[in-house]
Amino acid sequence: MPHTTDNTPNTLSAMAVDVLTTADAREKCARARAHAARWFAARRAGTPLAIGHAAPPDFPARPARPELLAPRDMPRRRPGTAAGRRGRIQAIAHIELNAVDLHLDIIARFSHIPMPAGFHDDWMRAADEEAKHFNLLADLLEEMGSHYGALPAHAGMWRAAEETHDDLMARLAVVPMVLEARGLDVTPAMIELFRKSGPAQAVPALETIYAEEVGHVAYGAKWFHFLCGRHEADPKETFHALVRRHFHGALKPPFNEEKRAEAGLPPDFYWPLVGPVAETPARRTREGQVEPEARVGPGAE
Ligand SMILES: [Fe+2]
Ligand SMILES: [Fe+2]
Repeated sequence: MPHTTDNTPNTLSAMAVDVLTTADAREKCARARAHAARWFAARRAGTPLAIGHAAPPDFPARPARPELLAPRDMPRRRPGTAAGRRGRIQAIAHIELNAVDLHLDIIARFSHIPMPAGFHDDWMRAADEEAKHFNLLADLLEEMGSHYGALPAHAGMWRAAEETHDDLMARLAVVPMVLEARGLDVTPAMIELFRKSGPAQAVPALETIYAEEVGHVAYGAKWFHFLCGRHEADPKETFHALVRRHFHGALKPPFNEEKRAEAGLPPDFYWPLVGPVAETPARRTREGQVEPEARVGPGAE
């Protein structure tokens, strides 16, 4: 559906919902980028757009393809094969598309909570960057003779959003500070894998993603601490309580302590959340890994 100026949303929340209700992946990303550009242009001009209120959908609109499967039903891919590499790039693209929706959902869903404009700047910038990440990987898939949607993808990526739909601090704790931080842990090894196996174009794409994901974790830590200050809550204790309540998995070392520190996540936030945790077998894949929908960032596989 073409995006005409006639129905351009006029508040930030309406722009977020416009993206969330757009199914086509490229169009979703194009709208996220266009709305971010408009938000920042208005901020620079000293005429910021109103935040407004618009109800986000329970589940964001997504394209008919990829087919969404439970993790246990995903086809096994042999590592080291061309098909395996295409599968891995599509899995990361799928996570990036989910991340576009997550960052815009936080804006619309919690628009009733007054926040400084910097909060909206940060999540619009993050959504813009996730849209860029999706495009980089979708382009790469096409260069590899495939496309986003050619292979099945994991269902249930929205679970973290559902779990934290009524608690902004829990959303910040689980999505950027746990799931996106996990991406920082696993991305360096992924970059090395593609450096060895190719395609060579995957390396700069993943390096861009890696550099920008540090910022997303930092936005999470910044606004989590801001809200702890507002509510006179102890940040570390509050983080542990919210993650234990809303995130159903263990945090898994090794951690990228350097990048986590750069993002404002000290070790005493995440080390105490390393197992043992009460986790049902259903939440584990056959490989014994936490279900990929419990992650955001390029570390799904
Ligand atoms: Fe990303
Ligand atoms: Fe991100």
